[in-house]
Amino acid sequence: MTNPLRILILGAGSGIAQATARLYATEGAVIGLAGRNVERLSAIADDLKVRGATKTDIFEVDFTAADAAATIGVMIGKLGGLDHVILAYGVLGDQALAERDWAAARQIIDVNFRSAAAWILAVADVLEHQGRGSLVVLGSVAGDRGRRSNYVYGATKAGLSTLVQGISHRFRDRGPRAVIVKPGPTDTAMTVGMTKGGPLWATPEAVAAVVRKAADRGSLVVYAPGRWRLIMAIIRAIPAIVFNKMNF
Ligand SMILES: NC(=O)c1ccc[n+]([C@@H]2O[C@H](COP(=O)([O-])OP(=O)(O)OC[C@H]3O[C@@H](n4cnc5c(N)ncnc54)[C@H](OP(=O)(O)O)[C@@H]3O)[C@@H](O)[C@H]2O)c1
Repeated sequence: MTNPLRILILGAGSGIAQATARLYATEGAVIGLAGRNVERLSAIADDLKVRGATKTDIFEVDFTAADAAATIGVMIGKLGGLDHVILAYGVLGDQALAERDWAAARQIIDVNFRSAAAWILAVADVLEHQGRGSLVVLGSVAGDRGRRSNYVYGATKAGLSTLVQGISHRFRDRGPRAVIVKPGPTDTAMTVGMTKGGPLWATPEAVAAVVRKAADRGSLVVYAPGRWRLIMAIIRAIPAIVFNKMNF
């Protein structure tokens, strides 16, 4: 374990990522913030320094456009090494539009799966080569069972889950960790406009605590909050003939 930890957050402007970065800042970590909106990332970096981050670096990246393997190398050089990578970026998209407009569906797939897979595979190579480190990827409970209101998004998250589980198998006996964290509905910009509140909704801070812990220890498939493991086990067990009559 290096001290301070060097963390790279892909999609550092995300609500869950920001809450996670705040936890790392209190540990005095070196934090690399990657994303498109440099102005927002600068404000986040200033806040993290006040909270105790040893150093912050900002990387302006559109993850769908950048060459993941080459860009990761540059980022690691700037951070002085790599201990944890959190992949947090993603889009929910518009399911109804995605059903009639391939460009809209493709954009969800491109951001959430095609580009994320490129970054995940590039990070996996780095961690395998150095024989240590953690990769934590934000999936979703939506990936556990397709439902009509969000199945394009859900399919991308199911793909990520399988990819990360395969990498954690690949890492067996080689040192690094790869974890897929599956949040339930969380109060961030992604869910703006939805009716929030009630027992199924979580704060970004609650999810961040799960993400932070997952980087160090525990199961390789993690639900956030943990109650979603049981909820999704029940939902997966509902026969299709019953499930398809349900409205959600
Ligand atoms: N919120 C939930 O209810 C929920 C539930 C389950 C899983 N998740 C997953 O958890 C992760 C974090 O979610 P969140 O709610 O914290 O997200 P969020 O606040 O909506 O932020 C998403 C981030 O992704 C970035 N992004 C999207 N496309 C990008 C691209 N091509 N290049 C660079 N950045 C890009 C956005 O950047 P810009 O600001 O530049 O657009 C934004 O900062 C996501 O993977 C999400 O699918 C969220």
